[in-house]
Amino acid sequence: MRQKIVAGNWKMNNDLAQTEDLLGQIKNQWQEKEGVRVIVAPAFTNLHHAFESLRKYSIDVAAQNMNENSEGAYTGEVSARMLTSIGIKTVIIGHSERRAIFKETDEVLAKKVNAALENDMEVIFCCGEELSERMGERHFEVVKSQLEKGLFQVSEENWKKVVIAYEPVWAIGTGETASPEQAQEMHAFIRKTIAEKFGQTLANEVAILYGGSVKPENAQEIFAKEDVDGGLIGGASLKAPDFLAIVNAF
Ligand code: G3H
Repeated sequence: MRQKIVAGNWKMNNDLAQTEDLLGQIKNQWQEKEGVRVIVAPAFTNLHHAFESLRKYSIDVAAQNMNENSEGAYTGEVSARMLTSIGIKTVIIGHSERRAIFKETDEVLAKKVNAALENDMEVIFCCGEELSERMGERHFEVVKSQLEKGLFQVSEENWKKVVIAYEPVWAIGTGETASPEQAQEMHAFIRKTIAEKFGQTLANEVAILYGGSVKPENAQEIFAKEDVDGGLIGGASLKAPDFLAIVNAF
């Protein structure tokens, strides 16, 4: 049985007071949903607070990024060890905003994945094509290349600590969601690509999340698809009732 996961990526939203408020609302309305793992990813400055605040709840806290180096003269950056020292054991790597805005290359992402795994962290590795790539029918090729260059260096043993998030860039924050069929088609392709390299047994165990304008209204239909193991939620994760409704969509 694969893990089912609903993760909220809060991106660069919420100062400390707003974080406290959102966490308070989540906790007030929280009812554990059996078999579904819930993760929230606040900004760096609020990670410690979120971790302490959620200690008694079965909600994990993830970072949205980290640096690939262990320490040194990298002004403004945060290392895996800094994250684990405050209890953070999961990190999102390769989000399309990191790739596009901060120019993170496949090579850098591969190093980040390795650094996270070396520090015994879990990685949520994001992949997904841009609109022009889908229009040009290159979406499978693009996602395969992102996986091969950023993730396929991972040893079989370490795949236990890898979750994949498929996020078509054209569906992020746009209100336009991939259809459940489009999501399923890509998720099945990702699983097949992993199977070809690492074997079907390993591929069957990897959780693959869908991200891109998931809301309470469409979550159930998307999560019902065979190869969709949950969601990486942006905008809707900033409202506790919507986020929890998505958790309950399983
Ligand atoms: O990490 C989350 C994704 O970028 C999805 O964002 O739900 O606002 O479209 P969204």
